[in-house]
Amino acid sequence: MNEHNQSAAFDASAAIPRHVAIIMDGNGRWAAQRHLPRVEGHRAGIDSVRDVVETSARLGIDVLTLYAFSVENWKRPQSEVTTLMGLLKRYLRIELDTLLRNNIRFQVIGRMGELPPDVQEELCRGIERTKGGTGLLFNIALNYGGRAEIVEAAKRLLSAQVRPDELDEQRFAGFLYTAGQPDPDLLIRTSGEMRISNFLLWQIAYAEIWVTDTLWPDFRMRHLLEAIVAYQKRDRRYGGIKPARTGPVGNVALSAK
Ligand code: FPP
Repeated sequence: MNEHNQSAAFDASAAIPRHVAIIMDGNGRWAAQRHLPRVEGHRAGIDSVRDVVETSARLGIDVLTLYAFSVENWKRPQSEVTTLMGLLKRYLRIELDTLLRNNIRFQVIGRMGELPPDVQEELCRGIERTKGGTGLLFNIALNYGGRAEIVEAAKRLLSAQVRPDELDEQRFAGFLYTAGQPDPDLLIRTSGEMRISNFLLWQIAYAEIWVTDTLWPDFRMRHLLEAIVAYQKRDRRYGGIKPARTGPVGNVALSAK
């Protein structure tokens, strides 16, 4: 489907996911296809980040979460890690005005305290400057791991001396990084891999999953719209069944019993 058709298929009056989470993957392969160093893929991926953040704000999505750096990503070569951190700082410095103009609130989920001090400083500045934003909440997952998040939540609730009889799913969710946010309705993964990669393990319990072969640096507004169009066609049942049909068909089924 070309860009025009995709936009035409997009139904603005149908349900827009409240929370979209994206596993940005394929930067290395994008660079390899062009005989470029891996970091060039990350550099190119910034344009996709910019496009997706602005489109999400315009569509009226409440929360966008991008998986930028996992707790496992420290295993990558030091030069790649340093470039990624540098790109992050640069993105924030360059995009801060655009985030403010678009009423976007920026937040980090993950172990921010373990990031290099200069990166933490830039992040804190972005969080502080955008905290009044009432439009899109842009979560960036940095030094993030789903299991680590759950263990940390358990530690926090033990420190808060929550009694077993007071604990339920809603209370537990209040100890996660995403406390107070809706769970992702739509989880997108680029570059065709069928993996969750330790991302938002608790929160994606009922997320609709959409995987595209498009590599992250090629991902643009039209791909996001394509994912949302697919989402709008899904039948979300949350473990239940479709509501009983009324009218002649339902009546026939009843009288046949
Ligand atoms: C996965 O591709 C991508 C990452 C680990 C990093 C994503 C980061 C960015 C796009 C830049 C910083 C982000 C923001 C929000 C400013 P990969 O390297 O695993 O690709 P491969 O599987 O093809 O090797």
